[in-house]
Amino acid sequence: MGAICVVGTQWGDEGKGKIIDYLARNADVIVRYQGGSNAGHTVIVDGKKFVLHLVPSGILWEGKKCLIANGVVVDPETLLKEIEDLRAEGVESKGRLFVSDRAHVVLPVHKLLDAASENNSTTLKLGTTLRGIGPTYGDKVLRRGVRIADLINGRSLRAALERNLTHANAVLEKVYDMPPLDIGRTYEQYLKLGDLLSDYVVDGVEWLHGALLAGERVLFEGAQGTLLDVDFGTYPYVTSSNASVCGLGTGTGIPPRYVEKVIGVAKAYTTRVGEGPFPTELKDALGEHLRKRGSEFGATTGRPRRCGWLDLVALRYAVMINGVDRIALTKLDVLNGLSTLKVCVGYAYGGRVYRSFPADLSVLQEGEPIYETLPGWDELGDAKTLEQLPQAARDYIAFIERSLGVPVEIISLGGERAQTITVPE
Ligand code: IMP
Repeated sequence: MGAICVVGTQWGDEGKGKIIDYLARNADVIVRYQGGSNAGHTVIVDGKKFVLHLVPSGILWEGKKCLIANGVVVDPETLLKEIEDLRAEGVESKGRLFVSDRAHVVLPVHKLLDAASENNSTTLKLGTTLRGIGPTYGDKVLRRGVRIADLINGRSLRAALERNLTHANAVLEKVYDMPPLDIGRTYEQYLKLGDLLSDYVVDGVEWLHGALLAGERVLFEGAQGTLLDVDFGTYPYVTSSNASVCGLGTGTGIPPRYVEKVIGVAKAYTTRVGEGPFPTELKDALGEHLRKRGSEFGATTGRPRRCGWLDLVALRYAVMINGVDRIALTKLDVLNGLSTLKVCVGYAYGGRVYRSFPADLSVLQEGEPIYETLPGWDELGDAKTLEQLPQAARDYIAFIERSLGVPVEIISLGGERAQTITVPE
């Protein structure tokens, strides 16, 4: 009855979509528990590329059930479009996709406020995805959010929108000098969206506990990454949810003891999109090479991702927070052809060496990374086992395992399902 959780260990974009898709074949139920349509999980099936923002990646396996649990913030228009796009590709969600009635709803005003805050010279620019994520979670915590349960009940939708928009309109007008939104029109629009979504809505807590009690194998799909977690990430340059495994309990209503195994997804190098500290960033031709070779452009926004060496200080921190049992190492092939590789094992700052990931952003922004240099390799070919990888690649993996104290179980050498090595226990 133990569940598996797949979580990002860096700043997101680790390749979780592919790993979840790979593991979903052995699951019955796949669950998103935090984040929203800021996520872009890319899965390639038989050469066809799918980018999923809200629907769990497991939907691409026939017969699997998927839940968008209460910790996710749901933009109904985006979700309905994603369902339609999947349908156009022959993937039917009805009867297999479920949405928790406790999930919060992203409203148009949340996207307006996200953009207004990003474009305002007096507020901190974070480089958000502009999907309204921060303002929606903000309203949830400030107790003026709108839940899916409200969407499908006209009376409570009216009350929830009055509560929300009365305040939000004042902010739009007085802080940002923008016109207010019409509450009546938003009500009509969201009532319709609620109607279209109503077939998918369930009591997520009962639904998921029922699945677990029935012995179904559950796979939790983390979005973003631990270093973007609102509590443990590089605050304030983070997203607004608990993107580590810590979001799972509050995001689903499932007690932590149900999680039997945590798989931490780590890219063989590091990327970050948006603002914020990134100690191992390469601002030179090598960074550009990784960006090109790794197609490092945002799946949601198309923005170029910042690229750099693997940071084992950050990774060790993520392993601790998530209780990572096994690592899934992705995009190892992107490092092909580099004669040497560097991995960061500490930061030097203010006459001190930091071996643990600090809360103080100055260390991350101004500190000098301390690197170990390892030999590179030419080609990984189409290796199917660890033994078929070149010795230098195996040494790179062994170095990571030793540094983290956690075995690498999955190695991804490309986007296709077949380009994956599972290392036996
Ligand atoms: P937000 O989640 O849109 O509010 O953005 C906050 C920060 O998280 C920004 O730096 C975004 O670029 C980053 N972010 C949000 N979602 C993702 C993701 O799925 N992958 C990578 N970065 C993300």
